[in-house]
Amino acid sequence: MTEKFPPAQDAGVFRPGLFEGQVALVTGGGSGIGLGIAELLASLGAHVVLASRKLERVEAAAAQIRASGRRASAIAVDVRDVDRVQAMVAEVKAAHGRIDHLVNNAAGNFYAPSESLSPNAWRSVIEIDLYGTFFCAQAVLPVMREHGGGSIVNISMTLHYRGWPLMAHATAAKAGIDALTRTLALEWAAYGVRMNAVAPGPIPTEGVRKAFTPPTSSGVPDVFAIEKAMDSHARTMIPLRRFGSPADIANMVAFLSSPGASWITGAIMVVDGGEWLARPPQGRPE
Ligand code: COA
Ligand code: NAP
Repeated sequence: MTEKFPPAQDAGVFRPGLFEGQVALVTGGGSGIGLGIAELLASLGAHVVLASRKLERVEAAAAQIRASGRRASAIAVDVRDVDRVQAMVAEVKAAHGRIDHLVNNAAGNFYAPSESLSPNAWRSVIEIDLYGTFFCAQAVLPVMREHGGGSIVNISMTLHYRGWPLMAHATAAKAGIDALTRTLALEWAAYGVRMNAVAPGPIPTEGVRKAFTPPTSSGVPDVFAIEKAMDSHARTMIPLRRFGSPADIANMVAFLSSPGASWITGAIMVVDGGEWLARPPQGRPE
C-alpha cells in the first residue's frame, strides 16, 4: 500500500517566515520526499523551485503549493545533463536573483541483480544520483557565493552502511554522495556554503515502492510488499514502530537549511526511526 501523505507543514518547530525572501531549488520536488521538503520550505516563506524531468508533474505540484498561498514555480531538468543543469540554474537566477538553498533529492533506483545489470542501467542510476548531485551543487555554487553563501542538502540513504542485495548501483551512488557531502563541505566552507546530507529510512512513496519491488525470483523480501507485511515490518524492524513520512525528512532539511545549523557542515543526519541500527545483516538467499 502506498501512503497518501498529508502536506508537510510547519509543526511549530520553526519560526514563521524563517525563509522569507529566500529561494530554494528542490530537485525531484514534484513527488514523494522532495514534494514534502518543498511544501515545508514554502510554508516557512521560501519561494520554492521544483525541478524534474516531467514538467507536468512539477507544474502540478507547484500549483498545489501556490493554491495554499505559498510561493512556488516549476522547471524541467534532467540532472544527468550538465548543460541543462547549468541552464536551469541560470534561469532560476534570472527569475529570482538568488538561490539560497539547494536540495539534491532527485534519484532513480530499482532492484536488480548486479551480475546482469546492463552498463546503461548502472550508468542511469549512478548518473542521476551521484553526477546529478555534483552537477547541481557545482552549478549553484557561484550564485550562492555572490550573496555570501547558502545551504546544500543532499538526500542520501542508509542501505550502504551495511550493504543491500540487488542495489549495487544505488548504494554505490549514495556512498559517493556521502563522500561528496564531506569533501565539498570542506572545500566550500570558505565561501559560506554549507553542505549536509539527510539519510532517510523507509518511507512508502510511490517511487520507492516501485523501486523496491524485487524480481519475483530473487528471494529478497519486498519491504513494502502488502499492507500487512508493511505493518509487520514497521512493528518489528523499526524501533520507533512506524514508517517515515516526507514531513519527517523535511523537518531535518529545514533545520539544516536554517541559521540554527550555521555551524553544521559535512554532517550526514540519519532520520529513520532507528531502523538501520536495528536491522539484521542481510545476505542474498540462494
Ligand atoms: N532492472 C534492471 N534494469 C533496469 C530496470 C530494472 N528494474 N529498470 C530499468 N533498467 C535499465 C533499463 O533496462 C535500461 O538499460 P538498457 O538500456 O541496457 O536496457 C536502463 O536501466 C535505463 O532505463 P531507462 O528506462 O531508459 O532509464 P531512464 O533514464 O528513463 O530512467 C530509471 C531511470 C531507470 C532509474 C527509472 O527507474 C526512473 O526514472 N526512476 C525514477 C523514480 C525512482 O526510481 N524513484 C525511487 C527513488 S529511490
Ligand atoms: P520519488 O518520488 O520517485 O522521487 C524521485 C524524484 O526524482 C522524482 O520526483 C523524479 O521526477 C525525480 N527524478 C528522477 N530522475 C531524475 C532526473 N534524471 N532528473 C531530474 N529529476 C529526476 O521517490 P522518493 O522516495 O521521494 O525519493 C526521494 C529521495 O529520497 C531520493 O533521493 C531517494 O533515493 C531518497 N530516499 C528515499 C527513501 C524512501 O524510503 N522513500 C529512503 C532513502 C532514501 P521525474 O520523474 O519527473 O524526473
